[in-house]
Amino acid sequence: MPRMAVLTGGGDAPGLNAVIRAVVRSATLTYGWEVLGVRDGYDGFLNPHGVFPLTLGDVEDILARGGTILGAANRGNPFARKVVRAGKEMLVDVSDEVVARIGSLRLDAVIVAGGDGTLGIARDLFHKGVPVVGVPKTIDNDVWGTDATFGFDTAVNCAAHALERLHTTAEAHHRVMVVELMGREAGFITLYGGLAGGADIILIPEIPFRYQVLCETVQVRIARGHKSSIVAVAEGARPEGGREVIARPGDAVVVPRLGGIGQFVGKYLEETCGVETRVTVLGHLQRGGSPSAFDRWLATTLAGEAVRLAVNRQFGQVAVLRQMQAAALPLDEVAAHVKRVDPECDAVRTARESGICFGDQAPPLPPLPSPTP
Ligand code: F6P
Repeated sequence: MPRMAVLTGGGDAPGLNAVIRAVVRSATLTYGWEVLGVRDGYDGFLNPHGVFPLTLGDVEDILARGGTILGAANRGNPFARKVVRAGKEMLVDVSDEVVARIGSLRLDAVIVAGGDGTLGIARDLFHKGVPVVGVPKTIDNDVWGTDATFGFDTAVNCAAHALERLHTTAEAHHRVMVVELMGREAGFITLYGGLAGGADIILIPEIPFRYQVLCETVQVRIARGHKSSIVAVAEGARPEGGREVIARPGDAVVVPRLGGIGQFVGKYLEETCGVETRVTVLGHLQRGGSPSAFDRWLATTLAGEAVRLAVNRQFGQVAVLRQMQAAALPLDEVAAHVKRVDPECDAVRTARESGICFGDQAPPLPPLPSPTP
């Protein structure tokens, strides 16, 4: 019986369990393949107990569950694995061990669900002869070549609901509420979440902002009778000529963690503009919990396509979403690019036309004259 393995790499995203479930169901029920699960990303191939059979029973109740039953690892790059030898930390390339293990397991295909980092590793393993198929995942929606990644819709919902809740308390206290959202160098969560949650100011990495414009916008809003304002700021947002704020530096294995820009924006608005401001960092709430119905559908659809690619021996491909249909693109192409918000896209244009400030241009409307008593 032919066999495929499935692994989930990088940070988790809601919908990973839906992928695992769909892989097991399609491969087993329709194509008669055996499916193995790999624990903790590529690390599972280096662990004697890291690969195990996955049955229909194992995936019965996981469609709506967040996280991943397989575990994930964002330090699991077999081409640069951190080890301690003779008391010294060093990076070693253990990819040959991974390739050998895949051979000894007699795997006919490996399905890899991951973001840009994990898919880049999948590409390199493919070029070493591993029969890989990718499935793009990440709440950040920054994987090139797919209209959306699963996990993104759930994160946007989380962001929008958080903004919605902050409106009421902001209004009650006449405050500015700053909400810092995830997304690394991509502003998709903040743009879509900000639009859906009624933000007045949206700051994303793709459109550097000026602090002075934030102040002017809040002042104009106050002059027009709005006693509160909501600012959605992406963790990767940065002022013109400035850099993003790094919460934790990276190293040779992990990228730096972004975070902290919300505090800078909040402090500026309070101290320079004199408006009472509070800052909320939504953090990993955006990644946790049950996937939205859209993400369950997307994860299932892309996993189904990945299984078909594997069964048809079309390796080195990624299952992507194109105009609401599953399609395939070469891993080489997907891993070579990144996706970012186009500052000229419809969503930004519509937001600007509806009076939302991106921090780069002064607010479009002059203050209304104060009403005569
Ligand atoms: O890439 C997904 C993501 O949630 C980013 O939005 C965020 O910057 C990062 O992962 C957080 O990583 P960690 O879970 O390592 O703190």
